[in-house]
Amino acid sequence: MYSFQINDKVAIVTGASKGIGESIARFLADAGANIVLSSRKQADLDALAVEMREQGSEVSAIAAHVGDRAQLRELVEKTIDTYGGVDILVNNAAANPHYGPTLEFPESAFDKIMQVNVQSVLELTKLVQPSMKARGGGSIVNISSIAGLTPDPGLGMYSVSKAALNMLTKVLAKELGADGIRVNAVCPGLIKTKFSQALWEDEKTLARFTKHLPIARMGTVEEIARITLFLASPASGYCTGGIYTADGGTTI
Ligand SMILES: NC(=O)c1ccc[n+]([C@@H]2O[C@H](COP(=O)([O-])OP(=O)(O)OC[C@H]3O[C@@H](n4cnc5c(N)ncnc54)[C@H](O)[C@@H]3O)[C@@H](O)[C@H]2O)c1
Repeated sequence: MYSFQINDKVAIVTGASKGIGESIARFLADAGANIVLSSRKQADLDALAVEMREQGSEVSAIAAHVGDRAQLRELVEKTIDTYGGVDILVNNAAANPHYGPTLEFPESAFDKIMQVNVQSVLELTKLVQPSMKARGGGSIVNISSIAGLTPDPGLGMYSVSKAALNMLTKVLAKELGADGIRVNAVCPGLIKTKFSQALWEDEKTLARFTKHLPIARMGTVEEIARITLFLASPASGYCTGGIYTADGGTTI
C-alpha cells in the first residue's frame, strides 16, 4: 500500500525536543510510527513523551548529543533493543555557533559545526544501515537548509555545513539504494522557531526577509513536518537523493 501511513515503523528523530523536530515527531507518530525522540536534555524529551503518549502515540525518549559518537551508538542500540530495528531516521539536530563575517569564524568552532551538522548524519547512517537493510529498506531524511544552496548572510560556515549535508545526502542515496534505503534532504526557508528567533522577533527585520517572497510570510514547523512525512513514507517510494526546498519561493 503506497500511502502516507507508516504504521508500526520505527523512527528516530534527532533534535526532537522542540521546533521543527518536535513537529516532525508528532506528524510521524500520527501517521502510525513508533517514535524515538532524541535531543540533548532527557527532561525535555520526557515531558514531550508523556504528552504524546497521552495522545495515544508509542514514544520513547533517549537523550544524545549528536556530536558524541558513543551517545549516538547508545541511541541506536537502545532503539533496536526496544523496537527490534529502525526504519526511519530524521537527522534534524543542528548547530550554528557563530553569526558574522566568515573570516572571523572561531577556529575552535569549525570542528563543532561540521561534527554536529554533517558528521553526525554520517555516523547515525552507519549505525542504522545494518538494521534498515535487514528489514528490507528504510528512509533517511536530513533537515538541511536553503543556506546550503545559496549563502546566508552572517551564516557562512553554517551554509558550508548545510551544502556538505546536501552532498552527503546525494552520496549516501547512491550508495544505499541497493539496500532499499532512500536518502533525501529538506531545505527549509525561514521557519518560526527558537533557532531563527533573531530573524523574526523584530517586525522590520522579518519584513525585510519575507516581503519579496512569492509566499510572503515565514513558514511553520508543520509545513516542514508534512514534507518530511512524505519523504519518510511509501508515498515517496521513487524519491531518493532529492534536495527539496520548502521556502515560500525564497530560492527562485
Ligand atoms: N528555523 C529555521 O528557520 C530553519 C531554517 C532552515 C533550516 N533549519 C534547520 O532545521 C533544523 C531544526 O531547527 P529548529 O529551527 O527547529 O531549531 P530549534 O532550536 O527550535 O530546535 C533544535 C533542536 O535540536 C536540538 N539540538 C541542538 N543541538 C543538538 C545536539 N548537538 N545534539 C542533539 N540535539 C541537539 C535542540 O535541543 C532542539 O531539540 C536544523 O537542522 C536547522 O538547521 C531551520
